[in-house]
Amino acid sequence: GLEIGSLLKQTGQVTLDTGFVNTASCVSSITYIDGDEGILRYRGYPIEQLAEGSSFLEASYLLIHGELPSATQLQSFTTRIQHHTLLHEEMRRFFDGFPRDAHPMAVLSSAVSALSTFYQDSLNPFDEEQVEISTIRLMAKVPTIASYAYKKAIGQPMLYPDNSLGYVENFLRMTFGVPATPYEIDPVAVKVLDMLLLLHADHEQNCSTSTVRLVGSSQANLFASVSAGVNALFGPLHGGANQAVLEMLQDIQADGGDVASFVRKVKNKEDGVRLMGFGHRVYKNYDPRAALVKKAAQEVLGRMAQPDPLLDLAMQLEEIALADDFFVSRKLYPNVDFYTGLIYKAMGFPTTMFTVLFALGRLPGWIAQWREMIKDPDTKIGRPRQVYTGYGARDYTPIAAR
Ligand code: ACO
Repeated sequence: GLEIGSLLKQTGQVTLDTGFVNTASCVSSITYIDGDEGILRYRGYPIEQLAEGSSFLEASYLLIHGELPSATQLQSFTTRIQHHTLLHEEMRRFFDGFPRDAHPMAVLSSAVSALSTFYQDSLNPFDEEQVEISTIRLMAKVPTIASYAYKKAIGQPMLYPDNSLGYVENFLRMTFGVPATPYEIDPVAVKVLDMLLLLHADHEQNCSTSTVRLVGSSQANLFASVSAGVNALFGPLHGGANQAVLEMLQDIQADGGDVASFVRKVKNKEDGVRLMGFGHRVYKNYDPRAALVKKAAQEVLGRMAQPDPLLDLAMQLEEIALADDFFVSRKLYPNVDFYTGLIYKAMGFPTTMFTVLFALGRLPGWIAQWREMIKDPDTKIGRPRQVYTGYGARDYTPIAAR
């Protein structure tokens, strides 16, 4: 029979490469990854330098437009985004229709998809001005949608955006603020969340970005394509991993905190249990983002009056795994999701919002990749082939004879 998995097979005219382990789908000049060396660069700039000196909006501009902005360009980009943060009042009513316990990722993808119904003036993928305004609308409205999804879940009134605030401050206030009560902004939370969004901003042809490009290759508009990306990110093997990591740590804690016995379970592949937040299709070395997130986790959690025992469990897990041949031989290292959930929890986000935060961060990458795809004269509609393994021709039997 046919062996699938990560095996690459030449079968006649087509190449079978399930999971696209070794197949490039496009050429791109946005993000560079060297998985063996643990290198990540946006438009040539090392992620460590951007995390240190840049901001999420500046990095978004860089990804989308190809160069770092001048001060005037950044100011204009920021102001335009600020002016589009409101949702249409009718769109606000949407949130009433969703069940209160809906996962906010499901709400987010539906709401992003619905932007196509509200902004019918910006659906032509080949009109650069329309694409630009769709870009601004997405960057502006996704944080508002995300915080409304959260407010709906906890039964609190939604707060209109306050456009005197910065991007991340505004999002934190809409999420955690309460009407008629001053909201005190924690500058450390703002700085760290801004950096986490920046670290997630692009990662070349991952599952959700490839989805955005594939949907866009049919010339579907930017909102429709990004909504598909949100859905791809929903899965636990992709964006859902940050939620899965925290749940894993909580389960270990509930079982008495026996990290070694959990690692044994993973190694024995009991019930298919994996060490969530470990391993990556491309990184066969320490994920450079994970190193930055670990440092931030120690900083944020170190300020808390009560230390979170889950951080300790996570560090124990990492230490045991990095010294164990099972993980070493498979080149399994912590990925970006291993420590992010602990920070989000410390900031007060419930686990269901973790993947939404990933989506918020990945948004400029999806937009940049979609725009590159639509302008590329070599883009064709994505249409993979298959290797058919079903029946040969056979005769139809009428139902009475079956
Ligand atoms: N825990 C235990 N074993 C693992 C893990 C893990 N987290 N990841 C991979 N392995 C093992 C597999 O069992 C397999 O072992 P085998 O050769 O004995 O069968 C080997 O390592 C290779 O694993 P694959 O699943 O073939 O690797 P793939 O590249 O397809 O998967 C993935 C990558 C999905 C990220 C995987 O490592 C995983 O499931 N990790 C946990 C989920 C996770 O953290 N996802 C976040 C990814 S990063 C992101 O989206 C930002």
